[in-house]
Amino acid sequence: MGSQVLGFAILLVAAGMTVALPNKSMDQMDVPAIFVFGDSTADVGTNNHLKTVFRADFPYYGIDFDLSKATGRFSNGYNTIDEISMLLGFHQSPSPYLSLASDQSTFKKNIFLGANFASAGSGILDSTGSQLGVIPMRQQVEQFRLVRNSMMEVIGATATSGLLSKSLFIITAGGNDIIDYFKSNMTTISQQDYMESIISNYTAHLTNLHIMGARKFGVISSPPVGCLPSVRLQANLTLPGSGCQEGINEYARGFHGMLTGLLRGLSSDLNGMVYSLGDVYNMTITMMQDPLAFGFTNVEEACCGGGRLNAETRCLAMQYPSPNVCKDRGAYLFWDSYHPTEHACKLAAKTLVGAGLAFVAPMNFGQLAQTKVQDE
Ligand SMILES: *[C@@H]1O[C@H](CO)[C@@H](O)[C@H](O)[C@H]1NC(C)=O
Ligand SMILES: *[C@@H]1O[C@H](CO)[C@@H](O)[C@H](O)[C@H]1NC(C)=O
Ligand SMILES: *[C@@H]1O[C@H](CO)[C@@H](O)[C@H](O)[C@H]1NC(C)=O
Ligand SMILES: *[C@@H]1O[C@H](CO)[C@@H](O)[C@H](O)[C@H]1NC(C)=O
Ligand SMILES: *[C@@H]1O[C@H](CO)[C@@H](O)[C@H](O)[C@H]1NC(C)=O
Repeated sequence: MGSQVLGFAILLVAAGMTVALPNKSMDQMDVPAIFVFGDSTADVGTNNHLKTVFRADFPYYGIDFDLSKATGRFSNGYNTIDEISMLLGFHQSPSPYLSLASDQSTFKKNIFLGANFASAGSGILDSTGSQLGVIPMRQQVEQFRLVRNSMMEVIGATATSGLLSKSLFIITAGGNDIIDYFKSNMTTISQQDYMESIISNYTAHLTNLHIMGARKFGVISSPPVGCLPSVRLQANLTLPGSGCQEGINEYARGFHGMLTGLLRGLSSDLNGMVYSLGDVYNMTITMMQDPLAFGFTNVEEACCGGGRLNAETRCLAMQYPSPNVCKDRGAYLFWDSYHPTEHACKLAAKTLVGAGLAFVAPMNFGQLAQTKVQDE
């Protein structure tokens, strides 16, 4: 155990994933609120309120919480957004917008710490997940508009824009758009046109958030989706060491490159905009290349599921035969066929908040949180 922790620290340094957190944990004065947009990697219970099969409010999700409570997070415990929020001095991710909105008597009080709009299965494009009954990013941004309007009713326009300019806007999306393209027959639209429509829609969403007062953007690009157990299964890459679906990974790398250009351009066009772009592609590949250094013994199979790669059947305790759940969940990269374990989320969050330029640029989320921006 001791040597594993030491090895982990050494590799973090070697890989530039140094965790250079400030001495004290940053208090909420730096970031008054966090607003979260995106997909299942960020969802903390939005989909519990929706008629969709894309939900995680049943066992064995949340197995490592007190009483093994399934909260709607697609993890055995906390997800990356929770971990980032904790590093910035919050208790966990802000609550789902739909949970806050379900109690109008407290809504106008509780929105001041932020809200999480992320919906599992959704994407940047309206078409992504459109059959699933989930909330696409365009609609998440419209929900934010309602939150902002309520804030203005309570504290006025000036104080609201002051608060929003200091707040952190975390967005994690793109992976589902890429996966959807490969699930469709790829004939109706070329790769380049598809990627361009993703980028132009993303531009519109970010611009709309900026118009409404967002200034600090923490953007997380796509993981190597070709390495997800579910995706490897589809390509029959099921033997140990059989590798990832490189065709899909190439899209994820291309997406990161396009995001780099998009954010650079937007930040020079949009008044006061500052951003961090987290490279979860590189982070995940780095972990997969030297699993033991990060405390992983298994970076290929799902911890919870069944069949090949433990990813052919769902992580659903009620089903028959019941799923296998790995015992050492801290040693697995993947919790289910799509999503990382809490341990992997914790590593990703530490990297996003504190690492160097190889993994998050042009600054990390910790520096972003502390940047002073004008709110005009
Ligand atoms: C990925 O991370 C490595 C460090 O492990 C770094 O040397 C490399 O530049 C990074 N790649 C990209 C594309 O940023
Ligand atoms: C941490 O605290 C020590 C002593 O209080 C101080 O000398 C040092 O500069 C601090 N480091 C950072 C990164 O703030
Ligand atoms: C792909 O094409 C096949 C036949 O060409 C069709 O049956 C199938 O529905 C298509 N799938 C999608 C997702 O469009
Ligand atoms: C969003 O993408 C769709 C294609 O899915 C495209 O028709 C539309 O023009 C795009 N919207 C914006 C604002 O770029
Ligand atoms: C995967 O293997 C199954 C049978 O084992 C076969 O039916 C299927 O066509 C294969 N799929 C691919 C993409 O090779």
